Amino acid sequence: MQLMLVGWASSFSAGTAWARWYDVLSMERPVCGPARVTGIGLLSLGPGDRVLDVGCGTGLSFPLLLAHVGSSGAIVGVDASSSMLAVACRRIDRAGWSNVTVHAGDAAQLAALVGRSGSFDAALFTYSLSIIAGWEAAWALALVRPGGRVAVVDLGLPMGGGRVWWPLARLACATGGADPYREPWRLVDRDLDRPVEYRLRSGHIHVAAGAVRHVYGPDERNN
Ligand SMILES: C[S@@+](CC[C@H](N)C(=O)[O-])C[C@H]1O[C@@H](n2cnc3c(N)ncnc32)[C@H](O)[C@@H]1O
Repeated sequence: MQLMLVGWASSFSAGTAWARWYDVLSMERPVCGPARVTGIGLLSLGPGDRVLDVGCGTGLSFPLLLAHVGSSGAIVGVDASSSMLAVACRRIDRAGWSNVTVHAGDAAQLAALVGRSGSFDAALFTYSLSIIAGWEAAWALALVRPGGRVAVVDLGLPMGGGRVWWPLARLACATGGADPYREPWRLVDRDLDRPVEYRLRSGHIHVAAGAVRHVYGPDERNN
């Protein structure tokens, strides 16, 4: 069991029953999974990479990330819900992954939870930024090395003809506590280099990714 109780700071706590059934109730296979695969693909991961999974929940992304980073890589998950992390820990234990660790705490305090600047090759936010109260603080790009990639997969309201699905989409968001008007994927275009964005299911799901900008030090500016 690799649950590290570091800085428990959030009032958010998903119920135990919700956590136990999350993988089914979140419609992983028919709805959320394909966007997750697309988002992880956009991280351009390779063997040995170290990935931060923000709001990792039950760890549905872990096997997909590990398929890219291999046994020499590492996954670090952060989540505020002990119930969700309990499911994630069972997943880790069952699979025997020694290179996956999870931290309990508020993603708005990420730096205090998981370490120093530039210590990750990539960061992943799947269906979490629309829920995390301090979502802009959780957008902790400094933790990813310059050139490292960041992906956001999240829910919004369908566009165009898909507007007929608004009642259902609103219900799906309300059930999971997501704010469908937040549109966190816009942070990618605002803050990252070479941004890309895809819309799935008429825009109910957005997948966006880009690279962390190089921050030039004083000695580099004139080179
Ligand atoms: C819809 S779930 C997504 C879980 C996972 N990323 C996935 O793709 O299945 C949102 C997750 O965000 C977590 N969360 C909500 N507020 C949080 C916060 N302030 N800090 C860290 N995690 C938070 C919840 O506990 C929940 O596990």
